[in-house]
Amino acid sequence: DEDPRIHGIRTKIRVVPDFPQPGIMFQDITTLLLDPKAFKDTIDLFVERYKGKNISVVAGIEARGFIFGPPIALAIGAKFIPLRKPRKLPGEVISEKYILEYGSDCLEMHVGAVKPHERALVVDDLIATGGTLCAAMNLLERAGAEVIECACVIELPVLKGRERLNDKPLFVLVEYQ
Ligand code: PRP
Repeated sequence: DEDPRIHGIRTKIRVVPDFPQPGIMFQDITTLLLDPKAFKDTIDLFVERYKGKNISVVAGIEARGFIFGPPIALAIGAKFIPLRKPRKLPGEVISEKYILEYGSDCLEMHVGAVKPHERALVVDDLIATGGTLCAAMNLLERAGAEVIECACVIELPVLKGRERLNDKPLFVLVEYQ
């Protein structure tokens, strides 16, 4: 049975057809952020799932993982690591390229941000093909961390991104059909 807070969250996500290009149904979480109750419910649902699980690292993916990751990290007593697009981080980095529908992109993480055997949670707003979460997990695992789970507000199940995560658990609040 669905938590009653999920319905409110779902209704606050705006779907914008043909953005940023024709055929894409863009999932806009800025409208969720405009509603303090729905925004807080979103964070609370993640915090309720992850508090007491000994997670010491929350890694957020640029850009919208930077909105949801930090309040979760603070509430569960974990540090926050930004996983950024190329050439944004000033220190020494490790990089992971990943394939997009058209072309490729890359995520970077600061060397030394996470220590071996730390327990990590990866946070983003949305999973589509799963390529972004896969790259994020690779970065953390290359640094020796243990990825406990990935958490997203929205999943697009039709794109089967879950299947790219190599059996790593994925927790989502809303599925967009
Ligand atoms: C979106 C979304 C995820 C990613 C998911 O980011 O916020 O990070 O795509 O797609 P995937 O599962 O197919 O990899 P976007 O590429 O729009 O970048 P941005 O957050 O910098 O705008």
